[in-house]
Amino acid sequence: MEEQKQLTIAVIAGTTRERRESIKAAGFIADYGKKLNNTKIVFVDPKDFYFPGDGNDPEGKDSRYTDITKNADAFFIVTPEYNHSFPGTLKRMLDSELENYIHKPVALAGASNGGWGGVRAVESLVTVVREMGLVVTSYSVYFPRIQELFYEDGSIKEEFSDRYNKNLYEAYKELLWFAYILKDGRENFSLDL
Ligand SMILES: Cc1cc2nc3c(=O)[nH]c(=O)nc-3n(C[C@H](O)[C@H](O)[C@H](O)COP(=O)(O)O)c2cc1C
Repeated sequence: MEEQKQLTIAVIAGTTRERRESIKAAGFIADYGKKLNNTKIVFVDPKDFYFPGDGNDPEGKDSRYTDITKNADAFFIVTPEYNHSFPGTLKRMLDSELENYIHKPVALAGASNGGWGGVRAVESLVTVVREMGLVVTSYSVYFPRIQELFYEDGSIKEEFSDRYNKNLYEAYKELLWFAYILKDGRENFSLDL
């Protein structure tokens, strides 16, 4: 079998909230990805980017985010749930690009301080990412009661470690499978009439 090419995954945190807990889930997901073979992780913290307004006009883009999305083979979005949806910051950032997403896969993770783990935010995102041409994976990861799962430094508590490592193994396995197949499709497929 041909040696597997390196795949670049952008792990996107979903909020800029000062006291955000979901950043720990995003960090945990990024750290897990860094252990995988042939995989490069780029961490996207919306706090590090600037989107002056809505839309995707050239003056509304952040060129660093443009480059990241252009070079990414896959995305892993980690969203908290705000009023049964995902944060506006995440939408504004995602909206700023379009072509760079097309026919690339995305895995979704949700976080909340209640028992649902951000499932409504994740489900709200499905229709959005589909419209962007992203191919959404079916294995999502949920972090209910997120304030109980991690230590202050962002490391996961021992009692939750096995469960979430297994979840991430499944989520990344599907994401990387799609990334591999879709990269080949983007590079080699043509439909001649
Ligand atoms: C504006 C706002 C709205 C929220 N709405 C919900 C909600 O609809 N459902 C829910 O389970 N948690 C909700 N939460 C609580 C978040 O789940 C909680 O803050 C959690 O820690 C994840 O978000 P964080 O990364 O901002 O900390 C809300 C929090 C904020 C700031």
